[in-house]
Amino acid sequence: MVCTQSGLAYLPAEPVVLRTVGDLRAFVRACRGRGETVALVPTMGALHDGHLTLAREGLKRADNVIVSIFVNPTQFGPHEDFEAYPRQPAQDIQKLSAVGAQAVFLPTTAEMYPEGASTSVHVKGITETLEGVCRPGHFDGVATIVTKLLLQALPDLALFGEKDYQQLQLIKQVVEDLNIPVEIVGVPIVRDPESGLALSSRNAYLSPAELVIAGTLNKTLFAMAEKIAAGKSLEAIRTWGVTQIKQAGFGNIDYLEIRDAQTLISVTEKDDRPLRILVAAFLGRTRLIDNVEA
Ligand code: PAF
Repeated sequence: MVCTQSGLAYLPAEPVVLRTVGDLRAFVRACRGRGETVALVPTMGALHDGHLTLAREGLKRADNVIVSIFVNPTQFGPHEDFEAYPRQPAQDIQKLSAVGAQAVFLPTTAEMYPEGASTSVHVKGITETLEGVCRPGHFDGVATIVTKLLLQALPDLALFGEKDYQQLQLIKQVVEDLNIPVEIVGVPIVRDPESGLALSSRNAYLSPAELVIAGTLNKTLFAMAEKIAAGKSLEAIRTWGVTQIKQAGFGNIDYLEIRDAQTLISVTEKDDRPLRILVAAFLGRTRLIDNVEA
């Protein structure tokens, strides 16, 4: 990609590709040697504007951004889409080059889980609801890989999207419990400008007809938030939301819940605390998640 600024053409620098934990640590050491700060953006690749927003936010807050791309096998259930998950590292690196990220960490599975690796991170409480119930073992995989990435890079900060809202709360808990000296930054969901659909690598699985239906999910959540603000009964709002989602053409709804925004425990009546409306629903074989504040 060629950019022009002040009449001069220039090529944005390619990010450095780091393949091993040793490379990653050497890169961070060099940044530290120059007195510079480092932000880490953990991803599973197939980068879209949601990920690129995390990288741009990282660049505002730190001198260097490292984006890790690793499709983590331990967070997929046996019948989930690990094999089918989109993998396109060359395109991802191009996108990161346009954004200005300094490095991409692209480890192999053997690098992240060497033969004989037998430690995993399990978080109680927040993992025992919502995604934790629907995807047994998923959060152990997430907590383990994120802990490893944070300890491998030891960045100043790490950025995660609010689309995986429960994951973000879980990561904050891990960092606090294990005294990992990294600031965790949550970044608001990036939505399709026309439909409001939360951007996700899994949206690539949707047919054009399914994409239209998918765009109704966020509208239901925002309408529920308005009803909560208007003081309607939370259970009545939840029931209304389920009907709307079903009528739009979704299949099984794993959950549609109104929860305490921090602990994610159930809330039966609105009080002063911030709430979060969270949903996971199937459209054909694709499982979509979304959430909004209330
Ligand atoms: O949100 C994701 O893409 C993944 O769960 C993460 C945080 C990169 C861990 O594999």
